[in-house]
Amino acid sequence: MAVQTTVKAFRRFRRLRRTEGLRSLVRETELTPSHLVYPLFVVHGTGVKQEIPSMPGQFRLSPDMLPEEARELRSLGIGAVLLFGIPARKDEEGGEAYDPQGIVQRAIRALKSADPELVVITDVCLCEYTSHGHCGIVVGGEVDNDRTLPLLARMAVSHAAAGADMVAPSDMMDGRVKAIRQALDEEGFSHVPIMAYSAKAASAFYGPFREAAESAPQFGDRRSYQMDPANAREALREIEADIEEGADIVMVKPALSNLDIIALARQLFGVPIAAYNVSGEYAMVKAAARLGWLDEQRITWEILTAIRRAGADIVITYHAKEVAAWLAERRP
Ligand code: PBG
Repeated sequence: MAVQTTVKAFRRFRRLRRTEGLRSLVRETELTPSHLVYPLFVVHGTGVKQEIPSMPGQFRLSPDMLPEEARELRSLGIGAVLLFGIPARKDEEGGEAYDPQGIVQRAIRALKSADPELVVITDVCLCEYTSHGHCGIVVGGEVDNDRTLPLLARMAVSHAAAGADMVAPSDMMDGRVKAIRQALDEEGFSHVPIMAYSAKAASAFYGPFREAAESAPQFGDRRSYQMDPANAREALREIEADIEEGADIVMVKPALSNLDIIALARQLFGVPIAAYNVSGEYAMVKAAARLGWLDEQRITWEILTAIRRAGADIVITYHAKEVAAWLAERRP
């Protein structure tokens, strides 16, 4: 009697990896410029284009430089920007944040008149505008949640009045989405969506941004309002609360260190999810690339694709323009 030997079958995954034609046919996650948002730092003055040392390739721009920026973005297929302002003066209550002649309000008008179809999103937070560098009003050495809410609401309304298409509160005060939604609705801006920085960690990855925006806290840190990076369940509760308060889009930030939270939020909630590939993530790639330690195009494609694969619809990234240009040539 013949002895029956059983050879276990195995699967030939490599069949579909053999050529780029086959690979692209079965690729599950696409990275296209239409999902990307490009952050811009705006300053007062004319003719200003000042490179940010810790963010090579990123600049502080004056409003007159923005029409050219808008043209470039359009030619690359990038449809949205996120604005951050560096004010002329800072004070205890962040007065320029809600001044109709403030830097962000000017920048919105410059961009919208250059390209009305460009989606202009604005960061709503006081830290760039306050003399102490905190994201809210300081009372007795602490950031006062409820006294900050009306100022954030006022700031969001002034951005909408200047023509912003969407506001993005990043301050991490409790109840800000509700306060902003109410104020926008009352002032005739019920059509302006809110993209809430919902799960925003107190992160060392924001270091280069704080240099770019001159927004580092002058005392203490942000751990009494931004989230402990150790907490995932709390991040989901923050997201849930922002959706209940009226957020149209929720954001997870930083992106790379929170891919698990993006993936969980994708499973649990139906709203669009944005992920912010922040300044420190960008700076790490730039630094390693400069040293010749990493292939910048390939690593950037891999990082941004992973953020999309985790479940982000929208990716906010300083690499947006470069990636769009690379994608137009070929896949890295
Ligand atoms: C303002 C704000 C910060 C970032 C976005 N909005 C800095 C901070 O919270 O200290 C960080 C973005 C980045 O690092 O690219 N609150």
